[in-house]
Amino acid sequence: HRHLTGIEGLQPHEITFLLDEAEQWVEANRSHAKGDGRLAGLTQINAFFENSTRTLLSFEIAGKRLGADVVNMHAAQSSVKKGETLIDTAQTLNAMRADVLVIRHMSSGAVKLIADKVDCPVLNAGDGRHEHPTQALLDALTIRRRRGAVAGQRVVICGDLLHSRVARSNILALTALAAEVRVCAPSTLMPPAIERMFVTPYTDFDAALEGADVVMMLRLQNERMEGALIPSPREYRLRYGLTPERLARAKPGALVMHPGPMNRGVEIDSSVADGIQSAITEQVAMGVAVRMACLDVLTRRARGVEGWA
Ligand code: CP
Repeated sequence: HRHLTGIEGLQPHEITFLLDEAEQWVEANRSHAKGDGRLAGLTQINAFFENSTRTLLSFEIAGKRLGADVVNMHAAQSSVKKGETLIDTAQTLNAMRADVLVIRHMSSGAVKLIADKVDCPVLNAGDGRHEHPTQALLDALTIRRRRGAVAGQRVVICGDLLHSRVARSNILALTALAAEVRVCAPSTLMPPAIERMFVTPYTDFDAALEGADVVMMLRLQNERMEGALIPSPREYRLRYGLTPERLARAKPGALVMHPGPMNRGVEIDSSVADGIQSAITEQVAMGVAVRMACLDVLTRRARGVEGWA
């Protein structure tokens, strides 16, 4: 693979390979150790057309820990605001001879469009409702480290599935790695025919939680609702909020996850988000390791190193 535009198209062994590659950075990152400078002399451009805290910063830290020269392009301060098209922006970045591009965009498919126009590897940092592959990889790494394996884990993904690229990438990655995936949402936020993704859909959160090993909560993506019928935050919490009482329906010690940003008191109570079962800050830490692995692996060919497994 020249690019990482999604989990779709990756074989299970390729997903496992990226997780294995990420493992080497986990301990080093804990002690703030610098990487080994393997990306020295390469230019990494992070072009973010949509807001981000975790993904942008962790890609920047990941690139810097590997020795790359990292440059950030924020759409709000760029010529995108003057009406420059996506293709023209891509060609401009390409002409600057970036060695790797990291793109976030509000339109599904925008990252693939850019990937087809440039000479360097492109990593998808989230495109519309489509995919957020490095989020799924960091979630799989968190589950693998905390539960010992992904295979056989009963994972419940609950929230705004209709608008969530995180849910889509996670479903693809977790089912590829043989987890049992249950998805739960109000019927208005459930994608049609989601069973085709090898998951079991629920509208009753209490039923979905029975025997769960991992509970992954998602935010209501108000910015992508486009008139969808949504419950009020209060109603939503009553039926779909992860409260301590609800969490007790899952297996004892079940892992609580959330990709962030959270709406505390809506999809997740603070006492759960900050409780002993929460892996939320660990997910963020795994994000740096996973992004170091992806940047390393995708630039191997350009560096004359053996590429994918
Ligand atoms: N999880 C995630 O993608 O967060 P950001 O939008 O802050 O990058």
